[in-house]
Amino acid sequence: MTGVNEIRSTFLDYFKKNDHEVVESGPLVPRNDPTLMFANAGMNQFKNVFTGLEKRPYSRAATAQKVVRAGGKHNDLDNVGYTARHHTFFEMLGNFSFGDYFKDRAIEFAWDLITKVYGLPADRLLVTVYAEDTDAAVYWKKIAGLSDDRIIRIPTSDNFWSMGDTGPCGPCSEIFYDHGEHIWGGPPGSAEEDGDRFVEIWNLVFMQYEQTGEGRIDLPRPSIDTGMGLERLATVLQGVHNNYDIDLFKALISASEHETGVDAEGDALGSHRVIADHLRSTSFLIADGVLPSNEGRGYVLRRIMRRAMRHAHLLGAAEPLMHRLVPTLVREMGRAYPELQRAEDLVRDTLKLEEIRFRKTLERGLGLLDSATADLSAGGQLDGETAFKLYDTYGFPLDLTQDALRARDISVDTAGFNAAMQRQKAEARAAWSGSGSAATEAVWFALKEKHGATDFLGYETETAEGVVAAIAAEDKEVAKLSAGESGYVVLNQTPFYGESGGQVGDTGEMLGTDLRVRVTNTQKKAEGLFVHSVVVEEGELVPGLALELKVDRARRTAIRANHSATHLVHEALREVLGSHVVQKGSLVSPERLRFDFAHPKPLAEEELETVESYANEIVLQNAPVETRLMAVDEAIEAGAMALFGEKYGDEVRVVSMGTALHGDKADKTYSLELCGGTHVRRTGDIGLVTLVSEGAVAAGVRRIEALTGSEARAYLESQDRRMREIAGILKTGAEEAPARVAQLVEERRKLERELADARKKLAMGGGGEGGAPVKEAGVFKLMARKVDGINPKDLKGMADEAKVQLGSGVVVLISVAEDGKAAIVTAITQDLTDKVSAVDLVRIGSEALGGRGGGGRPDMAQAGGPDGSKADAAIAAIEAHLAGL
Ligand code: SER
Repeated sequence: MTGVNEIRSTFLDYFKKNDHEVVESGPLVPRNDPTLMFANAGMNQFKNVFTGLEKRPYSRAATAQKVVRAGGKHNDLDNVGYTARHHTFFEMLGNFSFGDYFKDRAIEFAWDLITKVYGLPADRLLVTVYAEDTDAAVYWKKIAGLSDDRIIRIPTSDNFWSMGDTGPCGPCSEIFYDHGEHIWGGPPGSAEEDGDRFVEIWNLVFMQYEQTGEGRIDLPRPSIDTGMGLERLATVLQGVHNNYDIDLFKALISASEHETGVDAEGDALGSHRVIADHLRSTSFLIADGVLPSNEGRGYVLRRIMRRAMRHAHLLGAAEPLMHRLVPTLVREMGRAYPELQRAEDLVRDTLKLEEIRFRKTLERGLGLLDSATADLSAGGQLDGETAFKLYDTYGFPLDLTQDALRARDISVDTAGFNAAMQRQKAEARAAWSGSGSAATEAVWFALKEKHGATDFLGYETETAEGVVAAIAAEDKEVAKLSAGESGYVVLNQTPFYGESGGQVGDTGEMLGTDLRVRVTNTQKKAEGLFVHSVVVEEGELVPGLALELKVDRARRTAIRANHSATHLVHEALREVLGSHVVQKGSLVSPERLRFDFAHPKPLAEEELETVESYANEIVLQNAPVETRLMAVDEAIEAGAMALFGEKYGDEVRVVSMGTALHGDKADKTYSLELCGGTHVRRTGDIGLVTLVSEGAVAAGVRRIEALTGSEARAYLESQDRRMREIAGILKTGAEEAPARVAQLVEERRKLERELADARKKLAMGGGGEGGAPVKEAGVFKLMARKVDGINPKDLKGMADEAKVQLGSGVVVLISVAEDGKAAIVTAITQDLTDKVSAVDLVRIGSEALGGRGGGGRPDMAQAGGPDGSKADAAIAAIEAHLAGL
């Protein structure tokens, strides 16, 4: 028997041998097509290659593409569990030619592969062609030798494939397999074509045109896009008639049987199939970055999860089931899709959390459902109010309620459900507009109401496409922004991070045909609306345009590093200082990180060094940075750090990194924090953490600033350069420089002291010979001097010495500084203080120096004056005063 994995690799190998580039599956959330909710065909990722907009280094490719058909245009959700071949998730095998080979070669490859390599009997195969496509019919006859009755011409759009309302398109030819007479159904085009006997396995699209808004134009070069359902092919190759009987599904269903203890038969069979199918779609969606939420893609995921969870409940599972099936899925598909392996923990945790949460209301909701429908019989209808209550209070998505009633043939009044939903929204709006917020905020609230929350793609990608949902300027919605104008743009989805949690908003550009828009900031408004501040540089921006969105990658890379480093510094601070360290604020920008935290005193040099080295130890571990979704209380219980007073939803992203090397946490996860920010993939991407400052912001709150990566390196380089400059000046090596500087400082201090002493001596007449000149002023001996270059604070000491020299008398010292200002000190020996006051004298001197006031005691006073050139006049004035006494 040929297993699914072998069938897939056989396909890819075949085309590789035939010069095709084997390209990885595009992500389930398309990056290049904003109108698609999920990837729904192999050609999605090549859309622009077909139209010539994008060039690739190859012109032939082959892929196994992950596809989800739930939500959006193609929605198979309701059929799963009830038909043999519907899935919410499946794999599409495809080969592509971008202007290389065309119809004949595509038919040759397909026929060769299925009949020679896979060995399908030719007599079980038939094909359809578009009625007008004579070429295709001729090739099938020539290449495959099919008789005319096995080449069915279909005139409808069934055989003209288009990607959507616009985009590449062309006639197609489908290959059908006949499962045999014992199965009901007729060939394509017949009345019984919906039966399971004739199953389409491969669709070859001859891409020839591009459908534009104006009409259909020729593609630059005719191309090929084919798609084969892997599960359907496996069904044929494994000789079964139901997709759920192939090896892959058997493994999943047997895991589900094992975990529930219920055999997959009778009524239970459908539930097991739903569970197996939904396990694949939910796991792959989570691995591609979708997380359950109440809007957009996240809500589709939640609907699928909860639908499966009800079936687990139907099977009587006493404990959450889905997460226990993940290892089996990873074993079956992880090799082909390593992203599934990488995200295994995230997938498991997310499924478990959702199931624990949902089980809390599931039982009661089902009770309500039972009582509300007790009186209904087949053909009856559940009222919309109850369906809405189930949705609003018990978390039952509408389709889950419908699914639950399907077996009893009871429908739901969806119009009534929608009306109840609208009423609730109107109430919310009324309650909100009463809150009196600013006019601009009102715009965002209204836009959020109208367009829903923006789908954020930025955890996974920095480039994507998005459709302009609305434009605003100042405080109102506008119809356009022209070149040179600035305003705000809201899109259906965006890779731009909206400022929050301390992390600054992204910048970058938005591009369209003849349109260039610069994004200068991105902010989050009205709970989930991403508002881009923009300047239109070229062209005209209007709602409805699909734009290429490009986050400034270098800037974002630096932001990621700084954000992850903030977590490491936070944990290192707790390790070094203690668990009283709690975050008080943070700023994560591309240039640096700033972290405020509670701590009563400045950090010692040694503490800072240890914090820095602990953070860098984790950088060197190059440990993967893991993100999970958890319930808040569960996360906090697990030790995740949360910001006190911060509003968190019921579920939170928890970011963990590194393994602790020392302390109580040794060998456990190093950093675990609730965080909605963007982070590096591995701690090594941070490069290096350097603390550059530590200081106080408020009582008991310290602030640390740090740099990472190239900023840190540039900083250290400049420090190093300065160090070398210093060493150069000192004419010594960098090693000896600090000791040399300390020595110089000490020498200088000594020299200053010596210089001051020398000056004093000089001022007072120098070297002890004779001392300063003494005059007679009235009855007083007066020693008065102008002393230059003496520090004013030394004057008093000098005056004291002069008093000793005089024995009895008056001392006046005036020092004039370089800026011309004067300081004056007057002193009187104790025996004379009843005759004259030093304070009176200093006032007279100060006045002469152009100053005013001065003060002190009767025996010693001091003052200043702006005009040092009047020093002699000041002395003369004092002398005259003394003479007059
Ligand atoms: N695009 C086509 C399809 O989805 C063939 O790959 O069927």
